[in-house]
Amino acid sequence: MRISIRMKNSIKKQFPILNQKINGKPITYLDSAATTQKPQCVIDCIDEYYTQYNSNIHRSSHILSSRATEKWEEAHNIVANFLNAKSHEEVIFTRNCTEGINLFVNTYAKENLGKEDIVVLSEMEHHSNIVPWLMLQKEIGFNIKYIPVTDNYQLDLKWLKSLIDRERNKIKIVSVIHISNVLGTINDVKEITKLAHGVGATVLIDAAQSVARLPIDVQDLDCDALVFSGHKIYGPTGSGCIYIKKEILKKLPPYMGGGEMIREVSKESFTLNNLPWRFEAGTPDIAGGIALARAITWFSETVKNMGGFDVLINHEKELVERFISQFEGIEWFKLFGSTERVGAITFNLEGFSFAGCKESTEDSNIQGKDILEFISSQGICIRDGFHCAQPLHDKFKIGPTMRVSLGIYTEQVDIDRVVQIIKQGVLRTI
Ligand SMILES: Cc1ncc(COP(=O)(O)O)c(C=O)c1O
Repeated sequence: MRISIRMKNSIKKQFPILNQKINGKPITYLDSAATTQKPQCVIDCIDEYYTQYNSNIHRSSHILSSRATEKWEEAHNIVANFLNAKSHEEVIFTRNCTEGINLFVNTYAKENLGKEDIVVLSEMEHHSNIVPWLMLQKEIGFNIKYIPVTDNYQLDLKWLKSLIDRERNKIKIVSVIHISNVLGTINDVKEITKLAHGVGATVLIDAAQSVARLPIDVQDLDCDALVFSGHKIYGPTGSGCIYIKKEILKKLPPYMGGGEMIREVSKESFTLNNLPWRFEAGTPDIAGGIALARAITWFSETVKNMGGFDVLINHEKELVERFISQFEGIEWFKLFGSTERVGAITFNLEGFSFAGCKESTEDSNIQGKDILEFISSQGICIRDGFHCAQPLHDKFKIGPTMRVSLGIYTEQVDIDRVVQIIKQGVLRTI
């Protein structure tokens, strides 16, 4: 089923930023993997909070505080329903995906890992799911093994199975990305979870790129924890969430100490608040959390009106194909990854290098910079760099790369424009 043109137009119209011009040219936003734009209803929600009921939560008993508290708690329920968590107690609001991973690493992992244990990550992880582990490794000394990425840009699950067979007792945590922000590969995280649970390991899923394109059902996946950022699902920056199964969460030590996470404090000790508040120390981004729930409600309704997640993902696949097919037979266009992908299309323009490229000469760097400046001057927003996935680029000896990434508002016209401008950019530079 295709998304009707009328439907697509009405989606884009809800995003005020996308209806402006840059240098007299319509804006073409193709950097949604970095952050998505916000629909008017999310912007209004933030405005309403500050103009109508700005107040601290769970503290005062006045009318504004009661309203803010009610909305904050309701937001946790909305996110819990969206993820199909068993209860709002399993949903902790964070500033972003990165904070969620750090929370998990510094509570669950710190409590449960020993020197001889193994943590399994993958070669396509975002730095957010590598660096916190490396930091903890310095303290504890466990081993980190990376599931290899095959030549077909898939995770090598045969390798994982054989690691599990060899090292059954040592594997304690498996933490993997659901959809790669570089390769656009969808990983079979349900299967990975099953394999990990077979040896009693705990599973964390990085859903930063999947939360706004696949249905996420934490009970069906059976993952133990899952993280995402609000700003990648049409919500505000500074909002995000970590889901953790209640059986695990209730045994975890607190992450940060301060107000909100305690019930009582004396000079000598303290007692913990209920879940999930005991993991939300200090005054949170109240407007951000409430607006995240608004974004999720908007996103769910929009996907439903489109005809469901299958329609959304098929539409993305068609846009990916439309982009790649227009470079067919062009030698200087080098796709990074498979043609079977969603969300992100990463590529190189052979002969050009971009800032940050390790082996670039000054001359080629200037060429790359020229093209990027030209593309940007045409109102086109795409990204270049390592996309916070340097080990993946290193493995394939590629990079930095350029990335075009899609959102629910991306239309065929956006794809055709960026293709035309990239071609023009190359032709005017060589
Ligand atoms: C797959 C993936 N994981 C984690 C992150 C980190 O997200 P944030 O910077 O919002 O914490 C990103 C951001 O691009 C991502 O794409």
